[in-house]
Amino acid sequence: MALAIPVPTESLAGEKMALAVRKGLSSLPMRLPPWLFYDQTGSQVFEEITELPEYYLTRTEQSILARYAAEILAHASSGERLRIAELGAGSAAKTRLLLAAAVEQQGSVLYEPIDISMSALLVAQTRIEREIPQARVHPLVMDYTNGFALHPAAPGERRLLLLIGSSIGNFEPAESARLLRHLRAQLEPGDSFLLGVDLVKDERVLLRAYDDAAGVTAAFNKNLLIRLNRELDADFDPEAFAHRALWNPVHARIEMHLESLAAQCVRIAALDLSLDFRCGQTIHTENSYKYRRGQAEELLARAGFSPGPCWTDPRGWFAVCLAIAS
Ligand code: AVJ
Repeated sequence: MALAIPVPTESLAGEKMALAVRKGLSSLPMRLPPWLFYDQTGSQVFEEITELPEYYLTRTEQSILARYAAEILAHASSGERLRIAELGAGSAAKTRLLLAAAVEQQGSVLYEPIDISMSALLVAQTRIEREIPQARVHPLVMDYTNGFALHPAAPGERRLLLLIGSSIGNFEPAESARLLRHLRAQLEPGDSFLLGVDLVKDERVLLRAYDDAAGVTAAFNKNLLIRLNRELDADFDPEAFAHRALWNPVHARIEMHLESLAAQCVRIAALDLSLDFRCGQTIHTENSYKYRRGQAEELLARAGFSPGPCWTDPRGWFAVCLAIAS
């Protein structure tokens, strides 16, 4: 069973949000952290994104897992029983493939999904328990970016820790290095870690994935403002901001911004904060880092793992890399 470090109460979670928003909107350029996207609506809209024709990430990773799940599990377990924990599990649609392969391999499996969104975890638990009755689900609501601790696996059991879906793409290079070292420290020798990264590719493909024709990603981005209106008593007009996605080749990342379409004043009552926007002024809401081939293995090695195989799709758009804690 997984164990949270501090269990954040509602009010502490609200305090964390208030601090992050005050800090981000008081700096120039303004920015907001991407974990703020995932209120109940945001988690639902993200699920819609994963089904968009332009958003190749989920589908591509899914195809890799569908093809190689048994091979991945065989590498991870090397004959021992596995339990599977997942950081940023969301609704756990892709994890099903790994859980099914684990059930195939060992008869039953314990699955510990960890996510910041309680509503997404409930969807995950319901779905998994319905579709794979041999999987026991122990969900944990937690922001793993602040560090977390896991109970050691039972004797004779190995842990497989998942950070898939390009979740690591949201972290700045220094933060992702720190996160990987922290993950390594939570594992015992012989445990393994599976990392899913989106790869650098044609800029047009990348841009379309973050600026879809149906405007779902735009709605995802603007939902942030709606959330601030509701939870911090702000008065943003979401229509007065435009969704912008751009490719930053220097940092190999897609950036999302919200651009003010007019000179306007916004009040955030709960923070006693008034903001003046110039026309064209932006709030930087997300970075989504893309990896070059070999880069994930390098990061894993620097975090103290022994990099194992990486699996990819025929177009080389996405990679799923296994590493062993040694
Ligand atoms: C959940 C961080 C993997 O970066 O592709 C999707 C979030 N943002 N569309 C990503 C996201 C805009 C997504 N991750």
